[in-house]
Amino acid sequence: MTNSEIIEETIVFVKETLLNAEGGHDWFHIQRVFNNSILISKEEDVNVLVVSLGALLHDIADAKFNDGDESLGPKMAENFLFSINVPIETINHVVKIIKFSSFKAGLSDGKIKKKLFTSKELQVVQDADRLDAIGAIGIARAFNYGGFKNRMLYDPSTPPNLDMTKEEYKTSTAPTINHFYEKLLLLKGKMNTETGKRLAEERHQYMLDYLEQFYYEWNPLSFKKH
Ligand code: ADP
Ligand code: NI
Repeated sequence: MTNSEIIEETIVFVKETLLNAEGGHDWFHIQRVFNNSILISKEEDVNVLVVSLGALLHDIADAKFNDGDESLGPKMAENFLFSINVPIETINHVVKIIKFSSFKAGLSDGKIKKKLFTSKELQVVQDADRLDAIGAIGIARAFNYGGFKNRMLYDPSTPPNLDMTKEEYKTSTAPTINHFYEKLLLLKGKMNTETGKRLAEERHQYMLDYLEQFYYEWNPLSFKKH
């Protein structure tokens, strides 16, 4: 099989597998991460097949929706890639990308995990996934997630908490606006590649403008322009 045939087969597999996925992790999230990965790869010296497969398979079985079982995604990807005869070195690298690409790996315990594995290809997929959590799409995904969890949009009496442990973060029921301060506005500073940083800058500014307009509309009488 050629590389583009491998990618085509993988797209079919991912679309089928994610048929019933929730809105934040559906096929279109994967498609956006894939496209962003390709965009970033144009400026980086990377193995584009590994980046493509990593992007396409990175959320194949999100642990949040599988009783926290983080080994399922990498296993599913490995079995699938093996079944279409992808070379073993490629499979091994893609499986590592899936294991280490999640936000969890990028946040609090990131330093520990990064020591275990990193690669330029992983960095590209991570950047592409983070880009999809910020900007206009990121805002849509955050409120979609908040709605799914029945969260308030905003509550002036519940300020953001920047010191949450991983456990507290998981069980937090804070309003969706808090998520911008607790996570989304921090992602720009975590980008790995130059292209990722540039794209994140635009999207970051878009979120700041959005928040300003949000507070203005929340109460035009008490709003102070920055
Ligand atoms: P990933 O794509 O890396 O799996 P997550 O599963 O952590 O990312 O999050 C998926 C989407 O849901 C992201 O856009 C993220 O910002 C959003 N999200 C996660 N937790 C919250 C939250 N507490 N409030 C609002 N949005 C959230
Ligand atoms: Ni993702």
